[in-house]
Amino acid sequence: MSVVHVVGTGTIGEPLIGLLADHRDHFGLEEVTFHKRTPLQGERAKVGDLERRGAVLATDVDRRSEFEELGHAPKYEALEAIERADVVIDCTPVGLDMKRDFYDHASRPVGFMAQGSEFGFGKMYARGVNDDALVPGEDRFLHVVSCNTHNIAVLIKTLAMDADGSNHLDNGTFLCIRRSSDISQSSGFVSSPTVDAHHEERFGTHHARDAHGLFATLGHDLNLFSSALKLNTQYMHAIHFSLTLDRDVSISEVRDRLAANTRVAVTSKRSANEVFSFGRDHGYFGRILSQTVVSLDTLAVRGGNTIVGFCFTPQDGNPLLSTVSAMLWYLDPSRREERLDVLRPYLFQEV
Ligand SMILES: NC(=O)c1ccc[n+]([C@@H]2O[C@H](COP(=O)([O-])OP(=O)(O)OC[C@H]3O[C@@H](n4cnc5c(N)ncnc54)[C@H](OP(=O)(O)O)[C@@H]3O)[C@@H](O)[C@H]2O)c1
Repeated sequence: MSVVHVVGTGTIGEPLIGLLADHRDHFGLEEVTFHKRTPLQGERAKVGDLERRGAVLATDVDRRSEFEELGHAPKYEALEAIERADVVIDCTPVGLDMKRDFYDHASRPVGFMAQGSEFGFGKMYARGVNDDALVPGEDRFLHVVSCNTHNIAVLIKTLAMDADGSNHLDNGTFLCIRRSSDISQSSGFVSSPTVDAHHEERFGTHHARDAHGLFATLGHDLNLFSSALKLNTQYMHAIHFSLTLDRDVSISEVRDRLAANTRVAVTSKRSANEVFSFGRDHGYFGRILSQTVVSLDTLAVRGGNTIVGFCFTPQDGNPLLSTVSAMLWYLDPSRREERLDVLRPYLFQEV
């Protein structure tokens, strides 16, 4: 039996801790511990519910009494929790700092993971895209790529690559149309569509850069470019994509390929709120764990070899699946698929 420790209780950490605690027997976990930095009255219910579901709180030494005053029962100190874990999952925006200050010096854990923003933390990973690139005993640090990178990557893998890994993509461009803030957040909202700069000369924004890095772990050097803007909505990200192949493709082949990938959902819905609402009723605590939801009506083939369309990004769902998949790989690769069964009902093929 193993111990898994999650650092951070935000948009990604909160659902992940609950998911691990609820399924700890199925995942073969003896204990799920989590670190929260700031004791807050407004987050008392959240932390209390995670404790009620069996997750064990760890705090910094100097904040322990404040957590106790809020009615919590911290059991471990932050560093102690890292040192006694088999796998540590960082869900903060400071994973690189945490690596430098703490994870690099911890001896027991066999694996550490950080999330989307933490470029450079370790080998990039997205379930179903580059599992073959993971090397047991070598990849102690993994970077679970961002939600939009998952979406871009699964489109490329499904539509431009063959089962044997051969690549037919000449050129891929992506417009990431982002929600302005998470529904759990009260700040960061934008009042009107707001465009991002192209900071990366070769890739545009970090989304294409990260997708390129992900496929580089498999030996590919893809020609990708992305742009991004924020919309004044909190529902879901959407992506407009254009994939030019080195061969002709028909719309029926595009549809068949999308239908054949269990990590891809398709939909006849056109609005983010309808897709989001489906997740609320049928997803895991409202989350769709599929890596993309492709809008079927928007698919088209231009000039015989360029596939265009729109899709929606299950933003706080798709990294959860990869995170659990990587955690189970660290713990016992031979049992990963069987232990992931519990999440398969939330991988939809149609929304
Ligand atoms: N939001 C999404 O939909 C989404 C999707 C994919 C990937 N990600 C990635 O997930 C990661 C976390 O993003 P998020 O949206 O979940 O962030 P968030 O909601 O802002 O939560 C951040 C968490 O990190 C903790 N934290 C911050 N600084 C810390 C420090 N120095 N030491 C310990 N804990 C610290 C905070 O603790 P306190 O509040 O207790 O201080 C909070 O629990 C990022 O890499 C992001 O790119 C996010």
